[in-house]
Amino acid sequence: MKALVLSGGSGTRLRPFSYSMPKQLIPIANKPVLAHVLDNIRALGVTEVGVVVGDRAAQISEVIGDGSSMGVRVTYIPQERPLGLAHCVALARPFLGDEDFVMYLGDNMLPEGIVPIAEEFTARRPDAQVVVHKVADPRAFGVAELDADGRVERLVEKPSRPRSDLALIGVYFFTPAIHRAVAAIEPSARGELEITDAIQLLVAEGRDVRGSVYGGYWKDTGRVEDVLECNRRLLETLRPYAAGEVDAHSEVTGPVVIEAGARIVRSRITGPAIVGAGSVVEGSDLGPGTSIGRDCVLRNTRLTDSIVLDGASIADLPGLHGSLIGRNASVGASARHRLVIGDHTRIEVAA
Ligand code: G1P
Repeated sequence: MKALVLSGGSGTRLRPFSYSMPKQLIPIANKPVLAHVLDNIRALGVTEVGVVVGDRAAQISEVIGDGSSMGVRVTYIPQERPLGLAHCVALARPFLGDEDFVMYLGDNMLPEGIVPIAEEFTARRPDAQVVVHKVADPRAFGVAELDADGRVERLVEKPSRPRSDLALIGVYFFTPAIHRAVAAIEPSARGELEITDAIQLLVAEGRDVRGSVYGGYWKDTGRVEDVLECNRRLLETLRPYAAGEVDAHSEVTGPVVIEAGARIVRSRITGPAIVGAGSVVEGSDLGPGTSIGRDCVLRNTRLTDSIVLDGASIADLPGLHGSLIGRNASVGASARHRLVIGDHTRIEVAA
């Protein structure tokens, strides 16, 4: 089996971050979403991975490289414009050949992994198998209707009146039967070749299409709120260690990772939290759900439930919460509000 990871797309809901970095590289617990995805693929014993990339290809290959550091072999497949998930499958055909493959959207987090679902696929080998998850409001997703035996009866992309609460969550198992279906569909109302439509075509033809319910934690990291929630959740599962320095005037409680070369000075850190390599936290109070990237500087600051990306600095702010601070950004206090901010940035200042 091969894997196809989709890492194109424009990430409009993650602006301004997506102006300067692909959404798949946003760090969750100090590791890019895409690296979490590749971990889950390698756990299946799949090592041949095609990664479909758009105009952020250079940044993705800078971080992922040839995949060897993650135990996989990556082949990059360029997509000029985001024309849909089924379009990606068509582009990847030379890479996929006639092998079965798992397709994985590069911004979806399934921290519990997909090993049992992959085993179901291999054991029974239906023509296609989708992974679904119960959600409160399925209207923003592909929606599956399953019979009592797990067979897919119908799939609809983003229905206004969903007939089930089972959303497609970005992981699909395919046999080569998908290729003919992909070639037969037309673009949807949003102008994209939808993989949901291609799979529905297989269903309509009476092929064996199955749905497996993933019962673990799942997040499409499309919005800032989702990224922060997912970060908090993943931090809870980290094995704590302190490779960096913690001075005698600091207090560290709960599960906390302090990476090599980080320095904690006169500060309090309450886990789950992580402080990245080379960062300095001084006179500060970091609360649960906080990830600090590499080479950051935090001084006299109180911060909870937030992600600070590499090289950022924060000073003299006693009440930051639920924040996502970009690379090399600088946040500080002054007598009056003074803002130098980029396009589509969101700022909420305590009134
Ligand atoms: C895509 C799929 C949709 C699926 C979702 C999961 O939607 O088209 O069926 O439920 O990913 O994240 P998109 O993110 O392109 O709107």
